Amino acid sequence: MLLLIKHATIFDPEPQGACDLLIGGGKILLMEPDIRVPRKHCEVVDARNLNAVPGFIDGHVHIMGGGGEGGFATRTPDLPLTDAIYGGVTTVVGCLGTDGYTRNMAGLLAKAKGLDEEGISTFVYSGSYGLPLRTLMPTLEEDLLFIDKVIGAGEVALSDHRSSQPTFEAFAQVVAMARRGGMLSGKAGVVNVHLGDGARGLEFLRRILAETELSAAQMLPTHINRNPRLFEEGIAYAKGGGNVDFTTSTLPSYLEDGEIPCAKALRRMLDAGVDPGRITFTSDGQGSLPDWDRHGRLQEISVGRVTSLFPAVRQAVQEEGIPLETALRVITSNPARILKLKAKGRLAPGMDADLVLLDPKDLEVRTVIAKGRMLMKAGRLLAKGMFQ
Ligand SMILES: [Fe+2]
Repeated sequence: MLLLIKHATIFDPEPQGACDLLIGGGKILLMEPDIRVPRKHCEVVDARNLNAVPGFIDGHVHIMGGGGEGGFATRTPDLPLTDAIYGGVTTVVGCLGTDGYTRNMAGLLAKAKGLDEEGISTFVYSGSYGLPLRTLMPTLEEDLLFIDKVIGAGEVALSDHRSSQPTFEAFAQVVAMARRGGMLSGKAGVVNVHLGDGARGLEFLRRILAETELSAAQMLPTHINRNPRLFEEGIAYAKGGGNVDFTTSTLPSYLEDGEIPCAKALRRMLDAGVDPGRITFTSDGQGSLPDWDRHGRLQEISVGRVTSLFPAVRQAVQEEGIPLETALRVITSNPARILKLKAKGRLAPGMDADLVLLDPKDLEVRTVIAKGRMLMKAGRLLAKGMFQ
């Protein structure tokens, strides 16, 4: 069955005016004005007065759960499909965090495949916070070469009391493995780097650029908005050609302690002259949000949500005056390019049929289509996870 979206205002994410979209076989077949197909061959969605934008890419989600930083009872649950749907998220990149022991690559891959069967697109990073990496195959290069869903390594923790305190050489070796495996497999081979509050900040990433032959394309540091000092380092790093990722899941206490809300962080990076193509947002969904006191004692722990991703983009438009097409890039075309997700992040014939229809007045997610299937229509949920 074909799907015909009529009269949508297209942001591909650049504004392209009014167009129809014909969808079939999970792909966008045509994007042009006034497409006509006999009604018996297709379902028609009237998108007059709606913006059609690429489905959102959330490049850092603990899809099988994470946490555990306050003991077993604080292990977080896995990602329910409906959270992705409500959030307009049609592609997720799954990762493991602090706990790479009770959670492992086999489980991560199984959860990714499950979400795929349920209706969204998934990829994964190999490893977790600690080095040496615990991959599924003997090496990261082999994970990249032989496991389709693996696009890189991570989240490898640096500058954090929860990291494995890797040496610079150990970190450089992982970036090198990602480079080699990425080249051989035709994938991005990106190391997703978790940055903590430690004073070393981005030091190891700067040293990679200064002391090795490896490039900034091989690393995507995340949580860059977590404190003012790291954020200032992030501005300099991005102006030097690096990519930076901000985390949208937060707690009021994090913001009180100096975390910069993503919308404001985007405004400040753009005002500082950072190339808007260098910035991505991710939710850290299903990751734990631990609140430590100054003695390192856990005070409170809650769970990140993928539903925080798009509201941060909406806030950037509504409160920071950033054009919709610029703000959308951080969750569409930028992650698709940086992570080499070739059929994702843009609306064009031949791309995967992942799209969201937004109400232009309040920027609410109205309709969600993933791999050509309608998962939400006019605010009504049409799909659920297997056990939801
Ligand atoms: Fe992290």
